Amino acid sequence: MDHSSRLQEGASARSESSAPGLDQARTKSTYSLQWNRYRILRPDEDRATFRNHTGLGPADLAGAVVLDAGCGMGRYLRIAAEAPAALIVGLDLSLAVLAARDSTRDQPAVAVVQGDLARPPFPPGAFDQIYSLGVIDHTPDPETTFRSLAGLLKPGGRIVVWVYPRESPIVELMMNAQRRVSTRLPLAILDPLCRLLAPVGALKRRLAASRFRPIERLGVALHLATIGVSMHPDPEVRVCDTLDWYAPRYLSRHTPEEVIGWFRRAGLDDVVDLGRDPIFYHAGQGRGVNIAGRRPAVSSG
Ligand SMILES: C[S@@+](CC[C@H](N)C(=O)[O-])C[C@H]1O[C@@H](n2cnc3c(N)ncnc32)[C@H](O)[C@@H]1O
Repeated sequence: MDHSSRLQEGASARSESSAPGLDQARTKSTYSLQWNRYRILRPDEDRATFRNHTGLGPADLAGAVVLDAGCGMGRYLRIAAEAPAALIVGLDLSLAVLAARDSTRDQPAVAVVQGDLARPPFPPGAFDQIYSLGVIDHTPDPETTFRSLAGLLKPGGRIVVWVYPRESPIVELMMNAQRRVSTRLPLAILDPLCRLLAPVGALKRRLAASRFRPIERLGVALHLATIGVSMHPDPEVRVCDTLDWYAPRYLSRHTPEEVIGWFRRAGLDDVVDLGRDPIFYHAGQGRGVNIAGRRPAVSSG
């Protein structure tokens, strides 16, 4: 049996036996809806974002066994599979896996599995490369989730994560106040509301770009009042990103030092802060905490 079949067989067996855990119903329903409704494959942007947020190029992926931890509808699986990797596995909690399977149906090196990062359905030490973009911050206990992913690395394997950054106290206050309401709204109301709010994102974008100071300030005030409304230039991505921010119950924000602490406590080496000097694909793209590290090739224990 080849490596791909073994991983997939193990995955099905363990998924079935995993006990129902913390209440993640809202996370599941949000992303099941979001990624099946908004199939926002944007290859040029996705390729640039993948490269910027993972630091991975074709040479790193060639012949590797790779995990996309929280793959959503598979936009980065598609990009990773452009390199000649041995196997690329997408794992996601929600029915986004249906969209991910569809997005990658022409890419035989990709396998998509439904499961929880906190109880991953894979044996320890299975992967050469793990990347997890915008996922760990949507879990109930981010450090425990991270630790569980780090345990899946082969000796010498590398993991990279991107999570939301902790903002200033005033911005955090605004965010929490808005999300206290939005996360209680049924998705059947919140999703159309996000569509209605999308033009506000376009307006904020225009105001923020103004050279006339009072107009720019108006843009900043409007942004604070509608902090989760995306300013992405593409209208469909704007709606999707806005829902992504207002809907899920778990959305923690972190400092680089905190995330570096997760890496150190998990025993990882070569820890690098990729978010220190970020490259943006478009103006207004969100900043993040973006850290990579490696499991020592030879265990020190
Ligand atoms: C913001 S989306 C990011 C998706 C993808 N990484 C991307 O950037 O397109 C977060 C994803 O994490 C998944 N997720 C959240 N908690 C999870 C968990 N405990 N286990 C596996 N996936 C999880 C959600 O279902 C969702 O698809």
